[in-house]
Amino acid sequence: MLSGKRVLLIISGGIAAYKSLDLVRRLKGCEAEVRCILTSGGAQFVTPLSLSALSGEKVYQDLFSLADESEMGHIRLARNADLIVVAPASADFLAKMAGGLAGDLATAVLLASDRPVLVAPAMNVAMWKHAATRRNIALLEERGVTRVGPDAGNLACGEVGEGRMAEVPDIMAAIEEILVPDTSLSGRRALVTSGPTHEPIDPVRYIANRSSGKQGHAIAGAFARIGAETTLVSGPTNQPNLEGVDVQCVETAAQMLAACQSVLPVDVAVCAAAVSDWKVNSPAASKLKKTSGVPPVLELSKNPDILASLGQAGNLRPALVVGFAAETENVAEQAGAKRQAKGCDWMLANDVSAGTGTFGGDENTVHLIDDGGVEDWPTMTKSQVAERLAHRIADYFSHAA
Ligand code: CTP
Repeated sequence: MLSGKRVLLIISGGIAAYKSLDLVRRLKGCEAEVRCILTSGGAQFVTPLSLSALSGEKVYQDLFSLADESEMGHIRLARNADLIVVAPASADFLAKMAGGLAGDLATAVLLASDRPVLVAPAMNVAMWKHAATRRNIALLEERGVTRVGPDAGNLACGEVGEGRMAEVPDIMAAIEEILVPDTSLSGRRALVTSGPTHEPIDPVRYIANRSSGKQGHAIAGAFARIGAETTLVSGPTNQPNLEGVDVQCVETAAQMLAACQSVLPVDVAVCAAAVSDWKVNSPAASKLKKTSGVPPVLELSKNPDILASLGQAGNLRPALVVGFAAETENVAEQAGAKRQAKGCDWMLANDVSAGTGTFGGDENTVHLIDDGGVEDWPTMTKSQVAERLAHRIADYFSHAA
């Protein structure tokens, strides 16, 4: 599948550089074209001769080499690749990438490139956990850099923990994912709800649920990436715009329901929104003032249940209806009961009790409940949960077809 694809491999300084030799070998085995840039740190661990022998190409090392610049200048190196892979990516190299430095050939190429970039970090566990590295990684991911690993285990420095470079087959899989796009949901229509709803009390105040929209937005993005025609119906959030997704912004649960109904029919609906269960019956037309001295009494009534209405939408019912259950105790049990009550096919239960950091955080621990029982997923970033769910759904449709 990688035949003819052009991979530019940057090898920075780290003991894991020895695995990059195997990476070159495997890429060549798939008939990919591989060019290597070896940083001065990388050259402490592997030789240009081994890389050149394996890649069948000249190895590039020097930004100011007259011969290299006249033959294949750094700007052409930057543009002539389908993908740039940095493996291993040391803490120092990631910091340089995040800072936009361009003092050597590898960093100059990255700065001059508009190609997709995959990094395979490798470093000591404390370096990986350090706030500076965390920030650099977050910044790079925000800019669209993809990451594979690091894995946990015995580190070359004698310590144990996260920091080992991902194994070569995992790096190969990540490369394939980028270069051979997965279109397993193409031809499918998907609807996702995300964020909170705001139920007005008066023009200034509202009732809302806690929700950053991170998980729902990530799911819509993951669906679109693998080819689904995706509509995201979102309450107010600060999430960035999503490429390739039709985003419909709403405020209240009633608006969210109407927007969802207008999108039907869809093949799959995922309700990740934290919909307010209640609304104020008669919101005040003007701001409620304290001057009367009497706190207002709010008369509430129940909001429509969007998930349940999709689960019971008759012949417009999506083939797969998926809900999220935010629970603070007996998570799987309560979520299973909600799945039955709302008539949905899959329920993703997540623990939102104090201390889990789920609300507003980047990680989520979910349990997928379907007719077959409960499947525990490991703690993952919300993006990873989204990717896994999207692939799980693609798998469902490939078997249902
Ligand atoms: N949901 C919905 N419309 C509502 C309430 C909830 O679509 N009015 C959806 C959510 O998007 C989520 C699922 O129902 O997919 C479960 O939401 P949750 O807040 O966990 O449960 P509730 O139904 O609100 O029940 P409770 O507050 O009693 O736990």
